[in-house]
Amino acid sequence: MRHLMSPLDFTTQELDRLFDLAGDIQKNPQKYAHACDGKILATCFYEPSTRTRLSFESAMTRLGGRVIGFSDAASSSASKGESVSDTIRIISCYADICAMRHPKEGAPMVAAERSGIPVINAGDGGHQHPTQTLTDLLTIRSLKGSLGGFTIGLCGDLKFGRTVHSLIHALVRYQDIRFVFISPEELRVPDYITDMLKSKDISFREVIRLEDVMPELDLLYMTRVQKERFFNEEDYVRLKDFYILDMAKLERAKKDMLILHPLPRVNEISVEVDDDPRAAYFKQAQYGVFVRMALILTLLGLA
Ligand code: NCD
Repeated sequence: MRHLMSPLDFTTQELDRLFDLAGDIQKNPQKYAHACDGKILATCFYEPSTRTRLSFESAMTRLGGRVIGFSDAASSSASKGESVSDTIRIISCYADICAMRHPKEGAPMVAAERSGIPVINAGDGGHQHPTQTLTDLLTIRSLKGSLGGFTIGLCGDLKFGRTVHSLIHALVRYQDIRFVFISPEELRVPDYITDMLKSKDISFREVIRLEDVMPELDLLYMTRVQKERFFNEEDYVRLKDFYILDMAKLERAKKDMLILHPLPRVNEISVEVDDDPRAAYFKQAQYGVFVRMALILTLLGLA
């Protein structure tokens, strides 16, 4: 039995197979419409979500399976004090596969140890968000043609943003990738990540001003300041609008630069950018369904 806790749980060859499968699903959805007949996905979400939970539900429904679950810790027995280990043992009796989001780093890993069914980490605190990374990689591969040979700027909350942490870990396995980290001092990418990049001799720079680096970027990954991980409201208010990508800033960007964002967006991309051909964040959400369909089939051994 296989779980997905980190994007590194799959080799790059396995990821290629997963993305090929996602591409086939996109082209021939009817071929997969009954692939999960009789199977049940449990979505156990202890933290708010729109895209991740609903894209999992959409993915399983489009495969012919069914979905059970909860979208709020308060409506689960966690509110009575049940541990995730006990909850997953019970869910294992009710479902064939589980997607779990939790505010505590490592909670889905604890669940996976006790689980009788595959567990997918759908985001654990500020740590990892592997299915968003699969979505990001599939989007880049589909729209850029390959996963390597580019300069990617990651901008915003690089400290608490779990999508950023997972994506960097996944991208270091590809050739010729240069990272530019764009954040205020307080929201810098954690040292354990820059140490990892140094140890692998991978090119990265840390800057504060987005405007200065815009012309060199092939991809710009914008992120929201993670309000829920701040210890005080004042710091959040001071930092939340530090970056706002608008058409004036985009003027200096490459004509074929891709703008990605895991969403939800708050103010960091102004809505006027949505109609620019470089804006790929809504397409990215669509790729998220195909890749989750491919992932469910793979973990259930049906691919
Ligand atoms: C992200 C998350 O939950 O980490 N959202 C998502 O799953 N697409 C990003 C965010 O909340 O900022």
